[in-house]
Amino acid sequence: MNLQRLYTVVVLGGVAALVGCKADGDFQGLEYAPNMYHSVAYEPLKQIKDKDAGKWVNSSEDDIGEYYSSNPNNPYEMNMREPVPNTVRRGKFLPYRIPKDSVALAARTLVNPLDSTAEVIAEGKRLYGIFCTHCHGDDGQTPGLVGEKYLGVPSYTSPAVKNLNQGHIFHVLSRGIRRMPSHASQLSIEERWQIARYVQVLQNQ
Ligand code: HEC
Repeated sequence: MNLQRLYTVVVLGGVAALVGCKADGDFQGLEYAPNMYHSVAYEPLKQIKDKDAGKWVNSSEDDIGEYYSSNPNNPYEMNMREPVPNTVRRGKFLPYRIPKDSVALAARTLVNPLDSTAEVIAEGKRLYGIFCTHCHGDDGQTPGLVGEKYLGVPSYTSPAVKNLNQGHIFHVLSRGIRRMPSHASQLSIEERWQIARYVQVLQNQ
């Protein structure tokens, strides 16, 4: 290649690069192989049903705009599906399976996997303040504002509750018992064990 041609190539290449760099408003600049940057993203919580959206950046042959992100095979063309039944949440703990009426079994077999460390107690106390205080009161003895109306809230230091073990308490939080509602939908398994540790502190005050 002679020098003049090389020079032309360099100049034209430079100009193309500069033009390509210009981006402004809706124009993102020229892209080489745009389908590498704009893979079809199936966003779980939002969708674009307009098949023409983003046609100007289309790089594939299907003639559908680059931003179209719906899934016609799913109900409502949504991308997100509910997990299949019996899906197990990832994490440290397996799902809790002991049925509601087997509280004695829970009390006999379950062991709190968390030690009663300052950290666990502090987190249990924080959660207790959010989920339990309004019925059981800060100290677990004098009913809170809801407990004043929603009668039958026992004191943790009463003979019936004082000696309930960690497995029993965990079961009560998970399944509910008599007038006490289940808290399984609000609290993870780990959080329920943390709270159980804090209840233990209140039982022994
Ligand atoms: C809506 C009010 C309410 C809330 C909120 C509530 N409780 Fe209770 N709790 C009760 C009532 C009422 C009882 C008595 C149940 C019965 O024997 O009928 C009870 C009983 C209990 C018992 C004794 C269970 C037994 O076997 O006798 C424990 C332990 C307990 N609650 C812990 C908690 C903890 C920890 C929280 C917070 C996660 C909580 N509760 C939130 C109302 C509530």
